[in-house]
Amino acid sequence: MCGIVGYVGNRDCTEVLMEGLSRLEYRGYDSAGIAVFEDQAIRVAKSKGRLADLQEKMKTEGVPKGHAGIGHTRWATHGEPSDRNSHPHGGGSVTIVHNGIIENYKRLKEFLLSKGIRFESDTDTEVVAQLLDYYYQKTPGNPVDAIIRTMQQLEGSYALGIIFADFPDMVFALRKESPLIVGVGENESFIASDVTAILRYTRKYFLLEPDEIAVLSRRETKIYDLHYRRIEKELKTADWDVSAAEKCGYEHFMLKEIHEQPTAVRTTITPRITEGMPDLTECGITPERLAAFRRIHVVACGTAMHAGMVGKYIIEKLAHVPVNVDIASEFRYREPLVGKGDLVIIISQSGETADSLAAMRLAKELGAETLAIVNAKGSSIAREADMLIYTHAGPEIAVASTKAYMVQIAVMYLLAFELAFAKGTITEEECRRLTALLQEVPEQIASLLEHKEMTQMIASELITADSLLYIGRGLDYALSMEGSLKLKEISYIHSESYAAGELKHGTISLITENMPVIAVATQRHLFDKTISNIKEVKARGAKVILVCHEGYTPEKDVADFCFPLPDFEDLLMPMLAVVPLQLIAYYTAVHKGTDVDKPRNLAKSVTVE
Ligand code: F6R
Repeated sequence: MCGIVGYVGNRDCTEVLMEGLSRLEYRGYDSAGIAVFEDQAIRVAKSKGRLADLQEKMKTEGVPKGHAGIGHTRWATHGEPSDRNSHPHGGGSVTIVHNGIIENYKRLKEFLLSKGIRFESDTDTEVVAQLLDYYYQKTPGNPVDAIIRTMQQLEGSYALGIIFADFPDMVFALRKESPLIVGVGENESFIASDVTAILRYTRKYFLLEPDEIAVLSRRETKIYDLHYRRIEKELKTADWDVSAAEKCGYEHFMLKEIHEQPTAVRTTITPRITEGMPDLTECGITPERLAAFRRIHVVACGTAMHAGMVGKYIIEKLAHVPVNVDIASEFRYREPLVGKGDLVIIISQSGETADSLAAMRLAKELGAETLAIVNAKGSSIAREADMLIYTHAGPEIAVASTKAYMVQIAVMYLLAFELAFAKGTITEEECRRLTALLQEVPEQIASLLEHKEMTQMIASELITADSLLYIGRGLDYALSMEGSLKLKEISYIHSESYAAGELKHGTISLITENMPVIAVATQRHLFDKTISNIKEVKARGAKVILVCHEGYTPEKDVADFCFPLPDFEDLLMPMLAVVPLQLIAYYTAVHKGTDVDKPRNLAKSVTVE
């Protein structure tokens, strides 16, 4: 969602802000703006649309020149995307950028209106700017005091970058829930929503905790708590290099990230395997601890929830432990039957998804133990979980998740193997065999990626479709949910995933020759049954694309195209079958000319509920 960048130093501030914002574009946004100190005065440039629109506007209105300022990409929540609602927003001597939502902004606005203050936008952010100025006017010359007083009034989730007209060489920042980091360079300091925005300049950063306030100047960064007490923090070093956040010759980040999957899986599983057996002790997870849980709940959103669906099938099959999979936004409000003795697994790439974070906190309150599977280091979910397994996918920039999903399911496999062995539902020999096969998966994915042409051809057949159906049984059904989501989010073609056996209970009425069906049939014990379901849709005119093991030659009454997958262990097939589904979605979007990496209306990290 919204992205924040701030800078103070000797470089051209506008350049640093625009470069940083371009690195945050992936988070999703619909307007952008910057505020820079120019000759001791604050100069603002903002525009609806993309950063390119802001650049154009600055060409005609002039580029702010200075060495300190703040910038923002906005994903609209309060008020439509427009120049007027774009950040930065000003209130008297204060200018701010904001990520998150101020839940009590209406009450605060009424208070400020009653004091005669007028507003120019529809945003909750302007309310914060005006409130900051209101308190600043009461103690002029003391910005931190005004910040603390303002924070005491705000309800909701937020991160703010602030400049005060009276302090032209300083940038102030604070956070509650929404993430923010403070970058430290040689005679320069930065703030950013995530580290990718500043990797070009520095890899050293502080992770701001909720209720902390950062005061940045060229020479130093000071961090305070809400009592205005100085806090000493550990300076962290980002282990990603700049190339991790660049396209490196690929047309889109999404394609690059699909190709990074073999490495991502290898990097994620290798440190968790000791002498051929899964070993999660470095994550605080021992076989005894795992085996003690009577039930497992997986709670997540979107793609991460789909990874949980794959996890459900494999854990139940191998370890015989019941697994519920919940959408986090449902779980948190439906009074879930969760408590002591339950394990709640939260899966999240960003580790900041508001609903997933709230669901995890609820699970803890209810007495369950929580295990987070998270990609972003130091994120809120990672910090608050009882147990933590980091996925090592590196930064995922494309909004549509690919490599993060892949490593999430890789971790679910490791967990399932370890749990099943701990429970005694598989032998050590079987556990070793499955672990060894999991280690072969990266190579299998790499070889699949060498045969992209067929997915390009299939995609060219799909671009005229208005709607598509994905079908499968068991693990193939779990997987087809992800295939369907990928297609709709980036190609804007409507699609649904359906349990193949459930079709004739209603949905089959939708089938016509204009509704292609992508059928996934990798589970040999279900193969014949899925083929029967495929024949049912084929008989009603659907064009069928079948994804199954190599060596099967479909009759004309089964499929129009067949994408062959290597002959591999059924249980691990989701890790292979997802690759053509990702590529079909990708090339369909490319053929349609959509904005693949930044699909409309979507944000990468959903920090509001
Ligand atoms: C889809 C996608 C989203 C995310 C969801 C959860 O491609 O990326 O559905 O999976 O918003 O995000 P995280 O994993 O960051 O909690």
